[in-house]
Amino acid sequence: FGGKDCTEIKTKFPGVTSGVLKIHPKGTQTSLTVYCEIHGDEGWIVIQRRTGGKENFERGWADYKTGFGNLDEDHWLGLESIHLLTKDPSKKWTLRVDLLDHNDQHAFAEYRNFKLGDERTAYQLRVGKYSGDAGDALRDQNGSGFSTYDRDNDYCRPCIYGDIAFDECTERHGSGWWYSGCGSAALNGDWHSSDDPIGWSSGIHWLTWKGKPYSAKASRMMIKSD
Ligand SMILES: *[C@@H]1O[C@H](CO)[C@@H](O)[C@H](O)[C@H]1NC(C)=O
Repeated sequence: FGGKDCTEIKTKFPGVTSGVLKIHPKGTQTSLTVYCEIHGDEGWIVIQRRTGGKENFERGWADYKTGFGNLDEDHWLGLESIHLLTKDPSKKWTLRVDLLDHNDQHAFAEYRNFKLGDERTAYQLRVGKYSGDAGDALRDQNGSGFSTYDRDNDYCRPCIYGDIAFDECTERHGSGWWYSGCGSAALNGDWHSSDDPIGWSSGIHWLTWKGKPYSAKASRMMIKSD
């Protein structure tokens, strides 16, 4: 199996099933190994997966840039790879976010025109039109740069959360994200088990879906070209 992305692989090889595959992004010499999620007739590239507490997401800039985790399990694909995939101006990408609560109920959010800037823009997030049933939590983070505890690109200082003021969003969350004013979505925080799904200081948060302290049991972010 080979192709520019998972959409092309699914088109060329209709029988392909979800799994780890090599792709050759258009306009680059690079090949990338990614997890292709085959979803009906569509092939998606998974860029983030959380299903448990085994993989540590409290990491610095270098790890978020290059990616970490096991592609078959929980992982972060890496900001540089996501930028490389989405930088071609002739292609449009859709971001899909899938969320699972502790009663195994699903919700999703999709954004048209997803792309990340390069490292000089701190991998600035761009999202277009929203659709889904989880709510438009990313809207207020559109245009934000990515932040980690060792690379601060957010505009929240102090970050007020409940009665507590933190100096930085990353001080509260510990993990990397496109924080903006401590906005409504943050999917890289601490994973919480079903005995204790409330993650005040850090969790897998999607504020427009569940009140902020609620931490999802699982999340997945994936992208697909038109
Ligand atoms: C995100 O920002 C871009 C650039 O400013 C804008 O074109 C786009 O409409 C914004 N998306 C949303 C959902 O507001």
